[in-house]
Amino acid sequence: MSESNHPVSNDPEIPPTTDTATAYAANQAWWNEITEPHRTSDMYDLAGFKAGRNRFMHRYILDEVGDVDGKSLLHLQCHFGQDTISWARLGATVTGVDFAGEAVDLARALAVEEGIDATFVHSNIYDIGDRFDEQFDVVFTSYGILGWLHDLPEWGRLAARALKPGGIFYIAEFHPGGEMIQYDRPIMSKEDLFFGEPYFDPGGALFLSGEEGTDYASDHSTGQDTWEWFHSMEDIIMALIDAGLVVELFRERDWCAYRSHEGMIVDDQGRWHLPPDCPKVPFMFSIRARKPV
Ligand SMILES: C[S@@+](CC[C@H](N)C(=O)[O-])C[C@H]1O[C@@H](n2cnc3c(N)ncnc32)[C@H](O)[C@@H]1O
Repeated sequence: MSESNHPVSNDPEIPPTTDTATAYAANQAWWNEITEPHRTSDMYDLAGFKAGRNRFMHRYILDEVGDVDGKSLLHLQCHFGQDTISWARLGATVTGVDFAGEAVDLARALAVEEGIDATFVHSNIYDIGDRFDEQFDVVFTSYGILGWLHDLPEWGRLAARALKPGGIFYIAEFHPGGEMIQYDRPIMSKEDLFFGEPYFDPGGALFLSGEEGTDYASDHSTGQDTWEWFHSMEDIIMALIDAGLVVELFRERDWCAYRSHEGMIVDDQGRWHLPPDCPKVPFMFSIRARKPV
């Protein structure tokens, strides 16, 4: 899901960029600024979280990752740590990594407040290199992460390096197929269902104006421009396979964990769907891949 419910610009005046440093600086600034609005947002429901609500409202993630009690877990792109701390509450020894300093500071404060022993590292995931002395039983990442990454083959390799032999990599993410649906207007019927975003990598990151963008979790508009990358399912799966991981689970879901598009309808299990006359579209996927022993 884009950070907003607005389209990413395909304006030929602003071609895809390969200037990764500029793109990351802009994106980092956006994530730093949006952390506070997220802290107070209904979507992140901090009061409920502090009252013990587990972040994994859809059980499939728990079932697919399996029991983490006593395991070490590295959470890539952990934002302000709610998922990371949720894994710790289930018995894992957790380390979260995020490049937004504001998010990492908040995650650390939240862990202290919750009495959770967690480590939060302020770093671009591409810079974690060999900084960990240990390897992890689980490397976890979820929801709204791949669009912020420019190099999936390297992402696969860094995940594989961080794993113990026999350990698992797990991702739950928005599906690049569902991401193609236009964000220009609400989807009230199948007449509104058309493509707005690319499926295949357009050759660099696409620009999203801060003037257009509003946040997915709050009504805060930062005015900060961002850049977003696009990756196909082939890019994602092959990044893991080429890194030497063995894919042992791949699932696609025709519902979304969040209201990604205006006009979607929620069911009694908190699953968001397109209106009934629309064909089924893949909105989310999950993958579990294991590092061979
Ligand atoms: C949509 S959030 C994912 C968070 C999680 N699903 C949640 O809802 O709390 C994306 C996170 O990725 C982080 N991020 C983006 N690009 C990154 C990078 N290259 N390295 C580390 N963190 C990054 C952002 O700072 C943000 O906290």
